[in-house]
Amino acid sequence: DRQIFVTRHGQSTDNLDDRIGGDASLTPLGRRFGKALERFISQQRKSFAMSMARRKQEQLEDAYGFDKLDLLDPSHDGEAREELLNKTAEALSSSQFTVWTSMLKRSMETAASFSPEDYDIKHIRYLNEINSGGRECMTYEEIQRLYPQEFKARQENKLYYRYPGMGGESYIDVIHRLQPLIIELERMTQSCLIITHRVVLRIILGYLLDWSREEMPHMLVPIHTVYEYRPKPYGSELKKWRYVE
Ligand code: F6P
Repeated sequence: DRQIFVTRHGQSTDNLDDRIGGDASLTPLGRRFGKALERFISQQRKSFAMSMARRKQEQLEDAYGFDKLDLLDPSHDGEAREELLNKTAEALSSSQFTVWTSMLKRSMETAASFSPEDYDIKHIRYLNEINSGGRECMTYEEIQRLYPQEFKARQENKLYYRYPGMGGESYIDVIHRLQPLIIELERMTQSCLIITHRVVLRIILGYLLDWSREEMPHMLVPIHTVYEYRPKPYGSELKKWRYVE
């Protein structure tokens, strides 16, 4: 059992005026989100470890059966159980927890409060935002005004539309580049937090929740929202938290 959290970076200066792409830094609000994110994850990690420890102890007690329970002094039993529970929870919460960010400033800065002593932190280029080629750092309003045909073409087919210019990508391109990472995510056993960008988040969540590729580009994924994905025996569960000040 493990935890998988996914979120976008904190608010960037480009988010303020709706510019796409680029490599902007966080605003003060975005930095506060990063700090709160660390506290939130640390808390979630502890309570998860505690519930796992409880479950382990129940399994252990079931395995003992009647004979062994008969031998325990009931007054001592309570303390011993508590101590064992805390020890198991401590051991579990110190097990590895991975934090993946993209290689863009806004994503790495969001992870700035995560200490490398407590987290296994990796910056991965595959998690970078869609490359909007010649339209990097423009606003949607500018694109619509200067390149109305392109704007319309993207609205009509967001999945396949590839931004013109060097390095320009489509959703399909990003889906392809994310494939090795999604395989790695499914293969690994430790809990993780992924701090990434709008398009990449839509694709990762869409994949985990089994959305069609056509639906993914239209998923509503605001900033300062954390998603926790939990596989269940039948289907899955998604929890969402919003950061508010
Ligand atoms: O505006 C933030 C952003 O991450 C841009 O960098 C990116 O081009 C855009 O969102 C993607 O969203 P959409 O596919 O809806 O245009």
